[in-house]
Amino acid sequence: MALQLGDTAPDFTAPTASGEIRFHDWLGDSWGVLFSHPADFTPVCTTELGTVASLTDEFARRDTRVAAVSVDSAEDHRTWSEDIAETQGHSVDFPMIADVDRTVSELYGMIHPNASETATVRSVFVIGPDKRIKLTLTYPASTGRNFAEILRVIDSLQLTAEHKVATPADWQDGEDVIITPAVSDADAAERFPGYRTVKPYLRYTAQPGRT
Ligand code: BEZ
Repeated sequence: MALQLGDTAPDFTAPTASGEIRFHDWLGDSWGVLFSHPADFTPVCTTELGTVASLTDEFARRDTRVAAVSVDSAEDHRTWSEDIAETQGHSVDFPMIADVDRTVSELYGMIHPNASETATVRSVFVIGPDKRIKLTLTYPASTGRNFAEILRVIDSLQLTAEHKVATPADWQDGEDVIITPAVSDADAAERFPGYRTVKPYLRYTAQPGRT
């Protein structure tokens, strides 16, 4: 069965462009993003890895480690990473997992045979410090992903892990958030002074933890 939210992210040991990775050890207590791309030396994938490389500081600010995976070899990853740096202006400084034997792809269900028998689709797994899966995304080969959205989701996940709130549609860090239905009005008044009620089930408050 496909991995689901709340499942433990499978552990593995695999080669990368820069040596072996032991996934859970490498994650440590950090958040993680594991994302697959269909193939090295392809145009959309080149822009995707360049974009992720450009966001190094943003992921670090969120204590989030990122790793890419495809079924290409470590040697191909190394050669391709030079093209990424040349064409995208950012050097890949995160592990590129060489999943030639498909161990990782199969553990995470990244090969969808009716899309491609051989290549991974564009999967994304966001993993919490507890090693549990917090978000899954699957995009087709023809559509590059929006990594700003993945940062936005991480902001929401980290906030809502700490406070009894949820984030509305299109929310961005710093904007008002929703008080979860399980919080009583009395509790809400204590936790979120000045909160605003639109409907009994729709209550907003300023984002906790912001001054
Ligand atoms: C691409 O990255 O451009 C791509 C990869 C596989 C299939 C189609 C497009």
